[in-house]
Amino acid sequence: MTTAPTHVIDNIGVLVTNDPSLGEGPLGIVKNASLVLDNTSDAVIAVGPAGAVADDRTDANGACVLPGFVDSHTHLVFAGDRAEEFTARMTGQPYDGGGIRVTTDATRSATTDELHRLVRLRLAEAHRAGTTTIEIKSGYGLNIEDEARSLQVAEAYTTETTFLGAHLLPNEFAGRSGDYIDLVCKEMLEASAPHAKWVDAFCEVGAFDEDECRAVLDAGREAGLGLRLHGNQLGEGPGVQLAVECGCASVDHCTHLTDADIEALAGSDTVATLLPAADFSTKQPYIDARRLIDAGATVAIASNCNPGSSYTTSMSFCIAIAVREMNMTIDEAIQAVTIGGAEALRRDDIGRLAPGMAAHAIVLDAPSYHHLAYRPGVPLIAKTFGPLGGFES
Ligand code: NIG
Repeated sequence: MTTAPTHVIDNIGVLVTNDPSLGEGPLGIVKNASLVLDNTSDAVIAVGPAGAVADDRTDANGACVLPGFVDSHTHLVFAGDRAEEFTARMTGQPYDGGGIRVTTDATRSATTDELHRLVRLRLAEAHRAGTTTIEIKSGYGLNIEDEARSLQVAEAYTTETTFLGAHLLPNEFAGRSGDYIDLVCKEMLEASAPHAKWVDAFCEVGAFDEDECRAVLDAGREAGLGLRLHGNQLGEGPGVQLAVECGCASVDHCTHLTDADIEALAGSDTVATLLPAADFSTKQPYIDARRLIDAGATVAIASNCNPGSSYTTSMSFCIAIAVREMNMTIDEAIQAVTIGGAEALRRDDIGRLAPGMAAHAIVLDAPSYHHLAYRPGVPLIAKTFGPLGGFES
């Protein structure tokens, strides 16, 4: 099948460009618009009034169009199921991250073909739900071979791959955290770095402490990787301050923040990536994002799709929680799932719909983006333009 060189999405009722120079307010809203895409370079050619002409055409019929979602935090490479753990949580069992070892066993036992099949299914689901850029972490291999293998699977689908060997201490290293961190920083990193863009660590009581995480981040930086960190998920702790000190692109979770953490984030270019679906599934309190936004911190929202704390690919679900529970306006939540995610990945080619930007767009089955929070649980993505499609089989 040949693809026409240019494509216009026409009759757009409300176009979110995220470029204030193109339209109204911080979201750069253009009404009665058209969006012309270059299929050859995969870039936006023009934003203009309805009626633009191109080789091919989609009629949005007055619906809303916005940039594709940038999901900057997922753990898509895994096998197995932890529905029972979720069910136990709903009747009072607390989440402590220990189930990571259950998924590690299942992931190590899975064939590489099976891991590809599972990742493709999850990507197809994410794409149908409007995600056009996705970050994928390792972290369920926890040995040299399976961490590198997880990243090789991930890199078949995205350039945003993250080495998370320091996710949890595997059973065979019980009581020998220092030895494990040594392995992560040396042989495991050496095998994984060729397949990773980022390094990450889980800085939390029960996972790894500040010094261990600093060692992993230092080793990752030395190997040429960008830095990110899981921090402040289950309680206050050193994660946020460490991430800022090390110049991480993002610190993810940020569920429990002190005023000093907020001040540190606001004075840095480390993005606070909030993961509302994880707080939903683990019954953690929701962070008051207003504190971060009012202080001047940059906020992203991601799905954190994983089998333990957040088994969803739906960024719309995350938007609805952020607006209902986290004191974010709908406009702020839309920014957080688009340009916020782009900033968390240090990308300036995605998250906006302006000439020269990536042609990643979502056509909603709704007249405005407000419906993403107003109609929770309803599949409102009529069409997704951009990568990650085509993995349905
Ligand atoms: O981001 N917090 C650490 N890692 C994942 C959870 C992984 C799991 O429970 O399997 C998260 O929530």
